[in-house]
Parts: sequence; C-alpha cells; structure tokens
Amino acid sequence: MENSSEAVIQYHQRTKHQLNAYAKGPETLDWDDQPNPFRRFSGCETLALPLPGAQLACLFGDLDKPEQIASQPLTLTNLGLMLELSFGLSAWKQFGPDRWALRCNPSSGNLHPTEAYLLCTDPDLLQPGVYHYVSHDHALERRSRFHADATRPELYIGLSSIHWREAWKYGERAFRYCQHDIGHALAALSYAAAGLGWSIELLSESADADVAAWLGLDRNDDFVPTEHEAPDLFCRIRSDRQAVTGFDAGHLSQILQSAEWFGTAERLSGRHFYRWPIIDEVSAHAAKPASAAERLTLPGLDLPLPSHNIAASTLFRQRRSAQHFNGKSPDLPLADFQRMLSALLPNAKPPFTAWNWPAQVHPVIFVHRVAGLEPGLYLLPRDPQALTELKQAFSTDFIWQTVEMPFEFYRLTPGNVRQAAKTISCHQPIASDSAFSLGMLARFADQVEAEAWRYRRLFWECGMLGQILYLEAEVAGVRGTGIGCFFDDAVHGMLGLRDNAWQSLYHFTVGEPLDDGRLQSLPAYAHLSG
Ligand SMILES: Cc1cc2nc3c(=O)[nH]c(=O)nc-3n(C[C@H](O)[C@H](O)[C@H](O)COP(=O)(O)O)c2cc1C
Repeated sequence: MENSSEAVIQYHQRTKHQLNAYAKGPETLDWDDQPNPFRRFSGCETLALPLPGAQLACLFGDLDKPEQIASQPLTLTNLGLMLELSFGLSAWKQFGPDRWALRCNPSSGNLHPTEAYLLCTDPDLLQPGVYHYVSHDHALERRSRFHADATRPELYIGLSSIHWREAWKYGERAFRYCQHDIGHALAALSYAAAGLGWSIELLSESADADVAAWLGLDRNDDFVPTEHEAPDLFCRIRSDRQAVTGFDAGHLSQILQSAEWFGTAERLSGRHFYRWPIIDEVSAHAAKPASAAERLTLPGLDLPLPSHNIAASTLFRQRRSAQHFNGKSPDLPLADFQRMLSALLPNAKPPFTAWNWPAQVHPVIFVHRVAGLEPGLYLLPRDPQALTELKQAFSTDFIWQTVEMPFEFYRLTPGNVRQAAKTISCHQPIASDSAFSLGMLARFADQVEAEAWRYRRLFWECGMLGQILYLEAEVAGVRGTGIGCFFDDAVHGMLGLRDNAWQSLYHFTVGEPLDDGRLQSLPAYAHLSG
C-alpha cells in the first residue's frame, strides 16, 4: 500500500473488537510455546547491579513538585534503583504449581513486550557502551563497547518492543497493546527518575532507524527473525540541574561507528505456530522518521495532597492491577477522585515532564460510585480547546452540564452506566464493579493522516495516562486496572460518534479491589540474595 497513514488506519479498523466478533487472534493458546518474558543475550558480559530494595527519600506526593527533590548523584546504585522502580520485579505470584513475576510497569496479559537499554558515554559511570537491562536478574548485559569523547558524558535510555511476545496471545491487536505498554513504561521511568531528583528528556526527534542502530536492534543476525525488537523511544537521563543542551544525533551515530558488539538474543519461543504478518506491516508503516526537536513547557498545577501519601518507592513497588472489584464498597471520596483527574491534566510533573506534545486524549468517564457525584457519563477535556469539536462530534442527546470541580468537567448524561461500561469492555465486570471506569478518546484521523507514526504516539499518551491512574489509585488507597479489551465501535456508537475523527484507544477502571485469597505473594528478588 502506497500511503502509510491509510495503511495504519486500515490496521486500526481491522483490529477493532466488535460485539459480534473479536479481532483476529490465535484460536488456541499453545502454552508450551509461551514466549519467555525475560530476554537474555548469550555471549556477552553481565554486570550485576547493586542489590534491589532500597527506598527513595521522597513521598509520592513530593513528585507533584519534582524541581524540589534534591538531585541524587548519578551512581550505579542510584541508576539500578531507577531501573528497578520502573522496570524491575515487584513480586512473584503463585497459584498451585504456577508462578509468575509482576513488575513495577504493568503489561497487557503480563506478557511484557517492552525491553530497556542504556547507552552510556560517561566513563565515570560505566564503560561506554550499550547495556540491556534484565529485570529478572537486576543486571546489565553489555551489548557493545565503544570509545566516547570524555568531554560529553551522557546517559541515554531506549525502549523497544518485542511484538511477538504480545502477538502470541492477542494476535493482530497486539501491536496496539505494545504501544500502550510503552506509554506505561515511559511514565514509570519518568516517575522513578523524578524520585531521584532526575528527569527524563524524551528525544522524540530521533528516527526509529537511528534508535535501532544505536541500540543494536537492527543487527538482524543477533535475533531470531520472528522475535526481533522494534525501536520505540529514546531518552536522555538528566541527573543534574544544568541547562539542557541540544541533542546531537549525528555525534552519537559517529561514536557508535567504533562499537564492538557482543552476544545474541536467546530464543523466546520454541516454535511460532501462528504468524501475524500484519503486525510487521503496520510497524513498518508507523515507523518514525527524524523530525525537528519538540519540547513542551507546561504549567505547574497545585494538586491536593494524596490521601495515603507514602514513600514513592513503596508505592511504585505495590502497584498492581485489581482483578476484581468490590461492587458494594463505600463511595470513593470526592477528594480522591478530584486528585486522580487533576493528575491527568498536562502539568509540570511526571510523567508529563517526559512528554513533548499537547494533550490529544480526553477521558470519557463512567461514574458508578463517587461520593457527591451523580452516577452517569462525564467528560474531562484535558485540553479545553478541544471542547467545541468534541461537542460537535458527540451525540446531540448529551446535556453538557458543567459540574463544579477544580477543573473543567461535564456531565453528558446522568444515570446508571454500569451495564454499559461492562458491555463495551468485553463484558468484563471490572468496568462496572469499580468506583468509575473510563474510555480514552483520542483525536485520531487528522493526527494519523498528518503522520502515520503518530498512531503509536496516541497509544503512548493513553498508556501514560493509565500509569498515572494506576499510581494515583494506589495512593488513594484503592486500585486500578488497564482495559485493553473493549468493543471499539460500540463505544463510539454510545457517544454518537459517526466517523473516525475521534477514537477510543484504551480503557481503565478504578475502585476498591477484591483480593483473590488463593494467590500467594512472594518477594520480588529473594532469588538474588540466596
Ligand atoms: C495495556 C494494558 C491492557 C490491559 N487490559 C486488561 C484487560 O482488558 N483486562 C484485565 O483484566 N486486565 C488488563 N490489564 C492488566 C494486566 O493484565 C496486568 O497489568 C498484568 O497482568 C500485570 O499485572 P500487574 O498490573 O498487577 O503488574 C491490562 C494492562 C495493560 C497495561
């Protein structure tokens, strides 16, 4: 197909779940072929990071004003802590003979397609080279070494996706979930860095092809072809208060010309029974070319303190998805609801300090049980300028009643929306038994038509909002769950949307969790201290 934007929009259309048919996926799951969630490279040196488990000095609420957090020195210990709190293990769960790891970053189906790499040109920190983070071992694998100009010491972090991990279970729709996971990962990284007084600068001007070359992802012989990694994001870790200098991609490419590479990726699955070629196709169409550097200065908003303000590192490690909600819990206090929604607004705090673009995503909220708020369907415009267009696009039946809140907030329709929320979320009770659930409505057609790769960016933005909600739910003493399974056009139909100018790309739910007492919880890294 000639036009990449068209191809991407077709992929999107084709991977919608419909009320009468799910997007194409495997008919049966071959559990013996489940991809290994931990990538390792054989034939390269491994560098153990200092033992995980250290605490950050700050509370979660302190991250609202990241500029006030003292910058910690850039040492291997602190770097290890940042990696642990964003991508490291948070616990093991056991049910009968089955045991699986959870991580600080969530992932659709717990399949974890996201991989993280460091690129260091700072010889005082690490021998200049590219390092792959292995969350299971809390270790770095040295993929390359090169000579770097000691006058320009920098530390970069790159994120990539192994689409196969997600496609194994979810088939064609998996590409979307990989992008959600990247958004979650970027936000997790931004929060963890802020806890150390550091920040993440998203170098979004970089071309995917360059990122692939810098991280060694384009070294095809080092990977099983069906298990290759696609480049997603490339960031600079800023550990001090110095003025931001420009990023010189050419300089980095030049340094890497002298790189010596080590290791090959171990196979993740024994065989690949199902193949989903559409994923490689959409990935190629949605590749990002180099672009002009974009950075955003956002206002600082004064958020009310969270109601269970605890150590940020404790909170990152305790983040979990609720599998069930207590459908009869007391109402969620209004102050908690207000804080959660305020935290979604563009604001000079993580994760938006790692984001370079204006808000394109607006939550449509199914309020079930929030104190002092009538149940019904609501809209939180994250950019009030989008309001006129949203009003024009939505059903004329909506009442657009202004609700008094510390931000713009509209009631679209009052009433019990629990059944509707559950039905559109692939009939999952987590969308109706919670205090509220929501759909993330993205400005779609004109974004993807402008540049095909923005398709991914819209999902990243949604994933980032999901990560905010996960953490904000925990700090309010409740819990959240991402919802990737929803009936796309049923959502659009309910809102009265007639075309693809706006599309719902991700759903989320928050409420009082019901724990499954049959699951045993085990510490994250007992296997390292033994
Ligand atoms: C993009 C995304 C989509 C998800 N979709 C669903 C879903 O539709 N239903 C569900 O029960 N959980 C869903 N989850 C939750 C994951 O299953 C969960 O993150 C994973 O099992 C890891 O568990 P943890 O979040 O407790 O670490 C989703 C998570 C993400 C990040």
